[in-house]
Amino acid sequence: MASRTVSSLGGLFLLLIAWSYSSAVPLSHQGPRLDLGYGWSNITCTTCKALVLALDISLQVESNMDLVAEVAVKVCKTLHLAEADICQQAVQLFKQDVITAWVMSVLRPSEVCGLLLGTDCGHWDIGSDWNITLPPVPKPPIQPPVPPPPGSPTSRVLFLTDIHWDHSYAPGAPATCKEPLCCRSQSSSDGHNPAGYWGEYSTCDLPLHTIQSLLQHVASNGPFDRVYWTGDIPAHNVWEQTRTQQLDALRTITGLIRKYLGPVPVYPAVGNHESAPVNSFPPPSVYGNLSSHWLYHAMAQEWEEWLPTPALETLRTSGFYTTKIAPNLRLVSLNMNFCATENFWLMVNYTDPAGQLQWLVGVLQEAENNHEKVHIIGHIPPGICLKSWSWNYYRIVNRYEATIAAQFFGHTHLDEFEIFYDEETLSRPLSVAFIAPSVTTFINLNPGFRVYLVDGEYPDSSHMVLDHETYILNLTEANKMPSVAPQWTLLYSALDTYGMKSSYPSDWDQLVQRFFWDDRLFQIFWFLHHKGHVSEVCEEACKTDLLCILRTGRSNDPQLCKDLNHKGKTAKRRKSLC
Ligand SMILES: *[C@@H]1O[C@H](CO)[C@@H](O)[C@H](O)[C@H]1NC(C)=O
Ligand SMILES: *[C@@H]1O[C@H](CO)[C@@H](O)[C@H](O)[C@H]1NC(C)=O
Ligand SMILES: *[C@@H]1O[C@H](CO)[C@@H](O)[C@H](O)[C@H]1NC(C)=O
Ligand SMILES: *[C@@H]1O[C@H](CO)[C@@H](O)[C@H](O)[C@H]1NC(C)=O
Ligand SMILES: *[C@@H]1O[C@H](CO)[C@@H](O)[C@H](O)[C@H]1NC(C)=O
Ligand SMILES: [Zn+2]
Ligand SMILES: [Zn+2]
Repeated sequence: MASRTVSSLGGLFLLLIAWSYSSAVPLSHQGPRLDLGYGWSNITCTTCKALVLALDISLQVESNMDLVAEVAVKVCKTLHLAEADICQQAVQLFKQDVITAWVMSVLRPSEVCGLLLGTDCGHWDIGSDWNITLPPVPKPPIQPPVPPPPGSPTSRVLFLTDIHWDHSYAPGAPATCKEPLCCRSQSSSDGHNPAGYWGEYSTCDLPLHTIQSLLQHVASNGPFDRVYWTGDIPAHNVWEQTRTQQLDALRTITGLIRKYLGPVPVYPAVGNHESAPVNSFPPPSVYGNLSSHWLYHAMAQEWEEWLPTPALETLRTSGFYTTKIAPNLRLVSLNMNFCATENFWLMVNYTDPAGQLQWLVGVLQEAENNHEKVHIIGHIPPGICLKSWSWNYYRIVNRYEATIAAQFFGHTHLDEFEIFYDEETLSRPLSVAFIAPSVTTFINLNPGFRVYLVDGEYPDSSHMVLDHETYILNLTEANKMPSVAPQWTLLYSALDTYGMKSSYPSDWDQLVQRFFWDDRLFQIFWFLHHKGHVSEVCEEACKTDLLCILRTGRSNDPQLCKDLNHKGKTAKRRKSLC
């Protein structure tokens, strides 16, 4: 191979790595961004396509992983895409998974570059790519939700997401540093800005004692009927994580939740950070040591006392499950890594990975037959999934709107929601995916958690969300007196703060309209969106972008934001590290 080709190959490979790596950092719209001077702006669409073609041809001739990896490191350093150490470590960490996925993949250059650089550079997946099959059972007549009869019970559901425990968090360590994650004992400093004891407003995750403090607080402020816990357990030091470390995080945090919350049932979902390397979730058709067997088996073991045997079985093979959690209520925990643009394994085959959506249809049909309501939990919200996946999911939510009582997600680290409308007119709101803010501070946030008040357990309960509360740890306050147990306080409750009568889909749709007209109300939302710690102002374009996101239950749909005068046409989130 001519050296020119070799470096091209390295470039592309690095592209894949850096992309897998950078997309590990959560999305944020107008939020604070890391500006390290590394980035994608250097790679054009044409370069990308040429590189993909070259890699494609060469790997058919000779699949020399180490050579490609070596060059990738060189290119990484030359292009200054990351610090030298991080280039080296990231390439070693990602090479096997990424190259294997690549060699098995069926993608063409324009698809890959569309995936890497956005839709302006090619179609990554087309709306009509694949369709799940719905059973030939007519949809039940639509009945608008009615408030619960006075005096009926309400369930309190504790919702934890994106804990991101940093094993190496060190109070006093540099809170700004050269690496993508700071406040760590090994962070290389370029100034004096010491990390606080309980956490820091920076690109930092949380020390264990803050997570313990949270759990201690919730344990004495219950009771909770159950816990939904939607993943992302390890920190953002994704360039150096090993399987052993990820399993240690899984076991440590699971153990703490068990310790503090005791007999309360906990229902987890798999986040994109649980794997090593991050975002690497091969579909079950990939066997051998690259499969997710190591992770799902450990999860099934750790979560054994929370889940019944049939749920543990699907968890072990595919990372998702369903279980009945009350007389008329069923939980579905989805493995949203099978919808994620960041999961490079989906290059192999992105048609309903693991058959998850077809499985979901089966579960929902059976629930409908049995007059059960269903709660869906998952990590990545559906509005940012790959297009075909997202559109199929939207269709399922439409068909089973009478059965799906609520949807709960995390991953963005921000407080937000996504509204689902009827497919025919896109005007009747029929479901809401609630997106709760993270436990972690990453990036520039207060630590926090959510409590959902849900129509409780009685015959004919709707099991819908009636209200929600968000709690935070005010880091400014907490770090003033490190030795004093910090106060977790109510930041807001939804109905009160937004002046809503109820929390049904139509109320959330009206709220978005009120945001549009009433900027004062929108600014309150902007403040709460960041858990009470705002680093940037949000004016016209930013506001339109965010309102569009709130309306977008399915990705890449220009129809959903038409009347917002939205310039970008579809919901676009900024990636923090891009
Ligand atoms: C990458 O792009 C940035 C600006 O977008 C530029 O300053 C830098 O020199 C470029 N690096 C290379 C190696 O082209
Ligand atoms: C999927 O369904 C859409 C809409 O019903 C249709 O236009 C498309 O052709 C279908 N695609 C496939 C691959 O069957
Ligand atoms: C998978 O197995 C191969 C060969 O046995 C080994 O070289 C490699 O390190 C293994 N990979 C992982 C992630 O364990
Ligand atoms: C991809 O997976 C789907 C569903 O599992 C299967 O029907 C299809 O044949 C697969 N496509 C390829 C190219 O392997
Ligand atoms: C956190 O505490 C600081 C200092 O007391 C205060 O200025 C700030 O408003 C508080 N933030 C929130 C969200 O309550
Ligand atoms: Zn996260
Ligand atoms: Zn995530």
